[in-house]
Formats: sequence, C-alpha cells, structure tokens
Amino acid sequence: MNSDKPFVLDFDLLSGLCKSERVKPKYRYASDMRDQFLDKNAADMAIKAGNPLLYEFYGLDLPERDNVLQFGTTKIYPGKIGSEYYMTKGHFHTLLDTSEIYYCLRGHGIMMMETPEGDVDYREMLPGDAIYVPGRWAHRSINTGATPFVMFFVYRADAGHDYGTIEEKGFRRLVVEKNGKPVVTQNPKWL
Ligand SMILES: [Fe+2]
Repeated sequence: MNSDKPFVLDFDLLSGLCKSERVKPKYRYASDMRDQFLDKNAADMAIKAGNPLLYEFYGLDLPERDNVLQFGTTKIYPGKIGSEYYMTKGHFHTLLDTSEIYYCLRGHGIMMMETPEGDVDYREMLPGDAIYVPGRWAHRSINTGATPFVMFFVYRADAGHDYGTIEEKGFRRLVVEKNGKPVVTQNPKWL
C-alpha cells in the first residue's frame, strides 16, 4: 500500500470493522489459541463444539518501515475457555523498545502487560480509555465483559510481533472468572 499519500478510512465504532479493501482482516479461532489457555481439555471441547471465533483484527498493508505508523482495530468476542476469558495471543514487539497505543471503542476488558524481567502491570479498559504500552512490555487484550471488546491500535510499522516467547509459558498472570467476576491469578506455569 502507498503510504506516501494521505488517505481516510472509516472504522465503525460499534463493530470495529472497516469496509475498505485496503484493510486486511485476520481471524483467530479456538484451534489457533489452544495452547494459550491453561485448560487444554476445555479448549479441545470448544474446538470440537464448533471451534468458535475468539477475535479478529484489521490492519493495513503498509510498508514495515520505521517512519510508518500501522493502525487498525481488534475485536475480541465475549466468552471463556474453561474459566479464562477470551483473549488475544499476546506478544512482545520484535523491536523490543517500540511502544503502542490502544484506544477502547467498545466493551470492557483488561490489557495485561509484562516485561522480560518479570514486571507485571494490567489495566482495566472501558470506552474512551487510551493506554500507552511502553517499549519492552508484552501485551495481551482480554475481554472480561458480555459484549465484544473493540480497540483501535497504533504502532511503529516495523515493530514486528514476537509471539513465541509468550507461547512457551504464557503471561505470568491469568484473568479468570470466579463467582461471576474477573479475577487476576498467578499462572501456575510461572510458579
Ligand atoms: Fe503490539
């Protein structure tokens, strides 16, 4: 895509969708996320029961250069695998020092973050909340509400996505439902 000329895209605030052909959707189903959840039996059951769509995201086909800003929306559906809420894979940026902004358009969720050194932070996100995720902080979006959780994001286009580090053990904290409410717990793989 040509990033040298101005252009306007229309993102629907409720659905998070952009109808432009310039925006490429990507989909993550339960089968793509099986290893991210602690309860593998629950994940297998969900896959067998219809393999639900957990989230989708829309980004532009922009050149991955340090002078370009990539942007789009992510939409996480409501639901749980076992007691864990639907969430994104989560990643560090390959260029570890690069930051990212998320702006909540709809729904209710948590941005879970951690550094390679083990610092942990997590923030509740509601419509109108913008979060600055500094460089070095891995990030994962978690839908703790009953409706789709939609956020707009912007990051340096050459930041890259390192999913592998998170795939090995997951984040240090999990967000699970207990007595109908979201609770942050220790990931036993990090004990
Ligand atoms: Fe990111």
